[in-house]
Amino acid sequence: MIKVSPRTAVIAGASSGIGLALARMLASRGFRLVLLARRRELLEQIADELPGDVITEVMDVGDVSAPEDFARVLDELGTVDQIYLSAGTGHLNPGLDWSLEDETFRVNALGFAGMAAAAYRFFERQGSGHLVGITSIAALLGSAEAPAYNASKACASRYLDGLRMRARAAKLPVYVTDILPGFVDTAMMKAEKPFWVASPEKAAAQIISAVDRKNGRAYVSRRWGVVALLLRLLMK
Ligand SMILES: NC(=O)c1ccc[n+]([C@@H]2O[C@H](COP(=O)([O-])OP(=O)(O)OC[C@H]3O[C@@H](n4cnc5c(N)ncnc54)[C@H](OP(=O)(O)O)[C@@H]3O)[C@@H](O)[C@H]2O)c1
Repeated sequence: MIKVSPRTAVIAGASSGIGLALARMLASRGFRLVLLARRRELLEQIADELPGDVITEVMDVGDVSAPEDFARVLDELGTVDQIYLSAGTGHLNPGLDWSLEDETFRVNALGFAGMAAAAYRFFERQGSGHLVGITSIAALLGSAEAPAYNASKACASRYLDGLRMRARAAKLPVYVTDILPGFVDTAMMKAEKPFWVASPEKAAAQIISAVDRKNGRAYVSRRWGVVALLLRLLMK
């Protein structure tokens, strides 16, 4: 009998919310998982709870050494099929407290791009792979209450566009999917009057379905795609 090795998925930001829901769903699909975040105890608890092979790595994606550390983790794993970048932060910051703006840019923009570049370079060498970045519908417009959050998500989203263009130009079977969630019921959801709120499980199911279809971009839940279309028409 031929033994098929399990596919490997790496999730950055797997200790809660959307990343955790992705971990649960991918574990149930038989993936070998590598879970990254800062909260070690939570990661270990999750690894104990999940079926199958689970590796945990404590990492702060806002650290300057994160891209290098991430590249080393990927090299040690050998083959990796999918990398999900869900780690992110955000604050309502009407007072423009710079420490909050600075943290947001460091994690969501610089940190995200560093992790995405490390992931892409790994897939380029490997000759295949699927990079999935969780950005936000916030990437599509500015925000008076959370200017750094929306700007950092726009940066992350454009960075993914660049990597996708690079993979296409190289004619490599490397796929890059940008996931733009609207509101998802997690600790991150800070809006005063959220609407069309999806559960993390629903978000994870729609993300995995977009990955299965190799979509370049997907709105979660799907109805946010209509908002994106209207925004694009209004901005013309
Ligand atoms: N919830 C929403 O309504 C919504 C909407 C649009 C986009 N998003 C995006 O979805 C992604 C996931 O957020 P969520 O909703 O699932 O919220 P969440 O439950 O707060 O999850 C955030 C995850 O990111 C990790 N993280 C935060 N800062 C990190 C850092 N410096 N280094 C490493 N890991 C870090 C957290 O783990 P540790 O704290 O253990 O490090 C946690 O696992 C974020 O990028 C967010 O911007 C969320």
